[in-house]
Amino acid sequence: MLRFETAGESHGECLVATLTGLPAGVPISLETVNRELWRRQQGYGRGGRMKIETDRAEIVAGVRHSHTIGSPIAILIRNKDWQNWTEALPVEDIDGAEDKRKPVTRPRPGHADLAGAIKYNFHDARYILERASARETTARVAIGAMAKALLAEFGIQVLSHVIAVGSVRLERPAIWEESGELSRRDEVLLGCVDHAVEARMKEVVDEAYRTGDTVGGVFEVVAHGVPVGLGSHIAWDTRLDGRLAQAIVSMQAVKGVEVGFAAEGAASFGSKVQDTIQYDRERHRFERGANRAGGLEGGMTNGQDILVRGLLKPISTLRRPLESVDLETREPALAAYERSDVAVVPAAGVIGEAMVAIVLAQAFLEKFGGDSLAETQRNYEGYLQQVKNF
Ligand SMILES: Cc1cc2nc3c(=O)[nH]c(=O)nc-3n(C[C@H](O)[C@H](O)[C@H](O)COP(=O)(O)O)c2cc1C
Repeated sequence: MLRFETAGESHGECLVATLTGLPAGVPISLETVNRELWRRQQGYGRGGRMKIETDRAEIVAGVRHSHTIGSPIAILIRNKDWQNWTEALPVEDIDGAEDKRKPVTRPRPGHADLAGAIKYNFHDARYILERASARETTARVAIGAMAKALLAEFGIQVLSHVIAVGSVRLERPAIWEESGELSRRDEVLLGCVDHAVEARMKEVVDEAYRTGDTVGGVFEVVAHGVPVGLGSHIAWDTRLDGRLAQAIVSMQAVKGVEVGFAAEGAASFGSKVQDTIQYDRERHRFERGANRAGGLEGGMTNGQDILVRGLLKPISTLRRPLESVDLETREPALAAYERSDVAVVPAAGVIGEAMVAIVLAQAFLEKFGGDSLAETQRNYEGYLQQVKNF
C-alpha cells in the first residue's frame, strides 16, 4: 500500500510529508521535485506570500544515491515566512504570549475559520486557518513528484491545463503536446493552452484585483500512457473514478469534479456520449471513436488518456471583506483580511496532477506490487504480454 501523510502549519517552521510503500530503486531527482514545487507557486493572481517563499524540498529519509531504498520517505519544506511568526506561533509558550498572538476573531465566510473554531473550541480561528490553508498542498506536490517518478518508469505522465477562469472558458479540447509545452514554460500566466483565451482570462483576474474580489475556475488533469485495467468495477471503493474524485475534491477550494466530459454528457443523448469501439486487425488492437469517458469505464482505466477536471470556487479571503460576526463580541463585523491570492487555477492544476499521480501510483502498485522497481517491472511486463495476447 502506498500511503502518505502531511503535517505543518502555514506559518510554522516547515511542512513535513512522509510516503511509505514506494518500491526500492525508483530514480529521484531533487531538481525535478523542486521544479514541481516551483510550478505550484506560479500563475497570475497569486498573493504576496508566493513572493516570500521559494519552496525547496529537503529529503531526509528513504532516498540514497538518487534512488528510493524501499523505506519511508520523509520530506521537509521550510517556510521562509516562519521568521515573522516565531513569537506569534511558538512551540512553547513564551512570556507575554498574549500580546504577540495574531488572532483571527472575525471568521471569513467560505473558510474553515468558523466551523473549525467551534469544533476545536478556540475563540481565535488562527490555529484552524494555519492548517486549513492550501500551503499544505506544497507537501502533497512533493509527494506527487515521487509518485510521478514511479509512473514515469512505466511511461505514464501526468500534466494539467486551465479550462476556465471565472466565466472565460477554453471551448476546445487541449491536445497532450500542448499540456507538455505548458509544463516547460518558465513564465506562467494562467496555464491555458490558447494564448487568446488566456489573455481574456487575465482580464477577469485584473477585474478581481481592481474590485477587491476573487475568482475561481476549472483545471483539467490529464494522465497519458496509462494501461488498461487500473482500478476495478467489483466494489464501490475499488472504482478508480471514485478514488480520483475524492483525491481532487480533497483539495482546498475544489467543490466539484468531472471525469471526462461529464457535464456535457449529462445534457446530451447517449448516442452522442459513449465512445464507440472498433478493432484494428492489422495492429491487433481495440480502438475508440473518442474519449468522452475520460479514460475510465466501470471504475477501470480503459487505456485512453485519463481526464479529470476540478472546479474551484473563488478564494474566500477578499480584500473587500464580506459580512461576518466577531467571535468575542458577537457583533456584526467585516471578515478578517490576511494577505491572500486572488486566483489560483494553474497552481490548483499542479496540485491536481500530484493527487492524480498519487492515486494512479497506488492503483498501479496494488495491481503490480513489487518491493523493488525491477520486480514491479517484471510483473508489469507479464501483464502487458497478457493484454497483447488477448
Ligand atoms: C493553490 C491554492 C491557494 C489558495 N490560496 C488561498 C488564499 O490565499 N487565501 C484564501 O483565503 N484561500 C486560499 N485557498 C483556498 C482555501 O485554502 C480554502 O478555500 C479553505 O481552506 C476552505 O476550504 P474549502 O474551500 O475546500 O471548503 C487556496 C486554495 C488553493 C488550491
